[in-house]
Amino acid sequence: MESAIQEVLLDEKQLEAKIKDLGRILSQDYEDKNPLIICVLKGSFIFTAELVKRISIPVEIDFISLSSYGSGTESSGKVRVMKDLDVSVEGRHVLIIEDIIDTGLTMSYFTDLLIRRDAASVKVVTLLDKPERRKTDMKADYIGFTIPDAFVVGFGLDFAEKFRNLPYIGVLKPEVYS
Ligand code: IMP
Repeated sequence: MESAIQEVLLDEKQLEAKIKDLGRILSQDYEDKNPLIICVLKGSFIFTAELVKRISIPVEIDFISLSSYGSGTESSGKVRVMKDLDVSVEGRHVLIIEDIIDTGLTMSYFTDLLIRRDAASVKVVTLLDKPERRKTDMKADYIGFTIPDAFVVGFGLDFAEKFRNLPYIGVLKPEVYS
């Protein structure tokens, strides 16, 4: 698995420190709001797990599965709900936890959907932001790291369902996907 990685972009220590910071900020910003945290499967499962451990206020957690990529490295542009939420977002302060914002198409679609479903507020927390490839005006409310335009894997992020279990964020060697 390691031989497919060109470079380690963010190591375990950097990820841990940033997630601790984000948890502290979110605990302050959402005090008394009983937020509903939505983990966007599958890529955000590790980030969500690590982040909620660092949030010191009561939260509820639900999961949704959205798909826009298929098995390649380019967004298809069409977002589909593969598994919907179990709870209603009506009147709730929603915090979406995303692994990476690339074109922004997935998050634009999903924030619009939650607003249409009458959430009281909708904010986006993303571990990684790749602003160079944006196709919408999507801006996350909380960003872990802004990264250059490279295809990254690990810490939940995959290429064709592999590499999610790497404990760091690494740049995938282009020859692996080209
Ligand atoms: P967007 O709709 O183009 O912003 O894409 C968002 C989704 O694409 C993310 O939730 C990821 O699942 C996937 N994605 C985008 N860039 C990468 C990457 O560099 N590595 C792995 N997955 C990515």
